[in-house]
Amino acid sequence: MIKVEDIVRGFKTPESRWARFGPYYAMFPVDFAFEVIERYSRPEDFIIDPFAGRCSSIYAGGVLGRHSLGIEINPVGWLYGTVKLQPANKEEVVDRLFEIYSKRNYYRRAIERMPLFYRMCYCDEVLKFLLTARKHLDWKNNSVDATLMSILLVYLHGKLGEGMSNQMKMTKVMGINYSVNWWREKKLTNPPEINPIDFVMKKMDWRYEKGMPSVFDSQVVFGDSTVELDRIVQKAQETDIRFSLLFTSPPYCSVTDYYADQWLRLWLLGGPEIPKSNQEKHKGRFVCKEDYYNLLDTVFGKCAALMDKQSTIYVRTDRREFTFNSTLEILQRHFPKHKTEISDRPFKKKTQTEIHGNKSNETGEIDIIMTR
Ligand SMILES: C[S@@+](CC[C@H](N)C(=O)[O-])C[C@H]1O[C@@H](n2cnc3c(N)ncnc32)[C@H](O)[C@@H]1O
Repeated sequence: MIKVEDIVRGFKTPESRWARFGPYYAMFPVDFAFEVIERYSRPEDFIIDPFAGRCSSIYAGGVLGRHSLGIEINPVGWLYGTVKLQPANKEEVVDRLFEIYSKRNYYRRAIERMPLFYRMCYCDEVLKFLLTARKHLDWKNNSVDATLMSILLVYLHGKLGEGMSNQMKMTKVMGINYSVNWWREKKLTNPPEINPIDFVMKKMDWRYEKGMPSVFDSQVVFGDSTVELDRIVQKAQETDIRFSLLFTSPPYCSVTDYYADQWLRLWLLGGPEIPKSNQEKHKGRFVCKEDYYNLLDTVFGKCAALMDKQSTIYVRTDRREFTFNSTLEILQRHFPKHKTEISDRPFKKKTQTEIHGNKSNETGEIDIIMTR
């Protein structure tokens, strides 16, 4: 029998070792995800998260025996989620790690052409290895490659010794020029000498030490919820499945861009060397209020077609006026017979949003809980 206490505190079980896998902006605390799943659903229920991020909701659902389905548009969040639900076998990942490492010297010349940022961020051995992984790992289609790639993403940057990079100012990666100037100012222009094999093996040994997590029928779809939900609704209608819990946290209007904050990880997944702002639909900072409103309206409207009459809708959102009011209005329109409870969740610590320069007094989150 799984004990939630053993997962949310300490690292004694395989489920606890994988629960926090993948740092991600605006992620749910793991104990909160387990608490909501336990309280508002039962084993074998169907739960959905259309803005799944690193998939804490889906992981908690799967570990607690619920059929759990997530959708995530950002490859970094999707990869963390899909891997933690079903990591590949350790031996196969280790073999692939050695295979990638053995090809690194083909990239000796390529690293010389990389922008200064990369040369200051990584020692040559690490940079050659990362270029090889970027070129050869088929992370979208192959679960061994996905697992190795997601482990590299987790440790791509961080404080000295925690990641493969030079010292980073924050957990989030800063801009190219900012980082180069900061390293110069701090006299940190030489990246640490790291052997990528030793480093990754150590991290893998810890992650797999207690075994593989046991996760019940769960998956996360890589894509845009406004599109993917049509197929999911159709399949649910054909199979007569009703979902009993919608548990999610949508993006917050004008607060962050899940792409700019993750630019270095997105580079490793094949993105540009120099970060660009993302103009694609649903991939920017959600500054246009009308687009933001339409995104929530479409996604919650399509989810409404999936939910059981007695379902619970649990949405954590930003308390700033536009985001909160729009979310509440949209949810009440799509779930007119549900009763609404609002639970204020002020931040106890300084938030990333504040650190990133948003000084609004209204910071904090609000939970909208709707039940029948
Ligand atoms: C507040 S975060 C969710 C964080 C998540 N609860 C966690 O614990 O990691 C919102 C997420 O919605 C995703 N997103 C935004 N638009 C989307 C869309 N159209 N379809 C699917 N995911 C989307 C973003 O990429 C982001 O990961």
